Amino acid sequence: MRTIRIEASTGYDVVIGEGLRAGSGERIAALGGNARTAMIVSDDTVYGLYGGPVRESIERAGLVARSFVFEHGERNKNLAAYGKLLEAMAEERMTRDDLVVALGGGVTGDLAGFAAATYRRGIRFVQIPTTLLAAVDSSVGGKTGVDLPNGKNQAGCFWQPSLVLIDPETLRTLPDGEYRAGCAEVIKYGMIGSEELFRAVSETPVRERFAPVIDACVRMKRDLVEADEFDRGERMKLNFGHTFGHAAEFLSGYRLPHGFAVAAGMAAVTRAAVPYGYCGEETLEALLECLERYGLPAAIPYGADAMREAVLSDKKASGGAVRLVVPERIGSVRIVTAGTEELPAWLARGGVGTKDLSHLPDCKGV
Ligand code: NAD
Ligand code: GLY
Repeated sequence: MRTIRIEASTGYDVVIGEGLRAGSGERIAALGGNARTAMIVSDDTVYGLYGGPVRESIERAGLVARSFVFEHGERNKNLAAYGKLLEAMAEERMTRDDLVVALGGGVTGDLAGFAAATYRRGIRFVQIPTTLLAAVDSSVGGKTGVDLPNGKNQAGCFWQPSLVLIDPETLRTLPDGEYRAGCAEVIKYGMIGSEELFRAVSETPVRERFAPVIDACVRMKRDLVEADEFDRGERMKLNFGHTFGHAAEFLSGYRLPHGFAVAAGMAAVTRAAVPYGYCGEETLEALLECLERYGLPAAIPYGADAMREAVLSDKKASGGAVRLVVPERIGSVRIVTAGTEELPAWLARGGVGTKDLSHLPDCKGV
């Protein structure tokens, strides 16, 4: 069992341990604070796999367990699902002392967290991430929200969880594509801050060492969140690959999974960073090799004009400029501000609209 304390505007523990889900109720009840009801929010796939044991555990701990189950997929991280969830909480007459339990991947955590943040001006929520992506990234740090028709995560707020319970056993049921999508975020952590982690995951598959890899990523995220909770500086490094990645995800109508889009975005921005002189060719080669090892895409399957429009409508563009996270070497990145007029050159140098897409990995079943 590993426990990592996050000291953000509110402090909380991230606990990592095999089989943790069976005792989740006890840990949730131990948060205290007069909670009576816990609303489990989960998608249909995850609830079918893990809803029962978590619900039983919550009831054994003396809380009333209720559930809100929605259809899986990014396309349901939207205002309609958010509205229905708030209504379900109100129908249960949940009070400000009650809790939301997000059981699932990043879609569930973002949606449930946003509902918790806004229901009666904010109630506590617990994250039980069941994807690798959510374990290493989205369950920690308090970014919550839903997508709008215009783009990703456009409605949301910062609202820290009260507890994060990561049970690596749940990752064993992930479809292969979802596992690989999570590996893209792990590779991201290596690229932005730890050559040691990058080399380790380049040599040994992440699935052979889930707990230590998750531990390393959460500690890096802790440091960035504690330094810059509200994403004005250092924390933006976590957006490596996201400026182009979010745009690609949006253009795919959310058929391209988030992790795959981030992988393609990391490759594109690193490809551009070489001719701009931010990093050397060897950094790009190491990244591409690692992405290939995990069957992740290294090219963006959309044209330059569409990408330009999508990047500009994403919230990472502001005030006539776009912020790009650019590698200097493996384990180190810097934040570069590019004028929107420079964006076409970045996209062209990143190979967007020109790269051969014949090696785009299959993301069916993801
Ligand atoms: P997801 O929640 O849609 O989960 C992916 C799929 O895996 C779903 O179909 C789900 O049903 C299935 N699944 C989940 N756990 C499973 C398990 N244990 N066994 C079998 N199937 C399982 O997507 P995701 O990749 O976890 O998260 C992506 C989302 O996270 C995006 O919306 C992205 O914007 C968001 N995100 C948020 C942050 C943040 O800081 N808040 C950070 C990164 C990503
Ligand atoms: N995943 C980006 C962040 O938490 O800041």
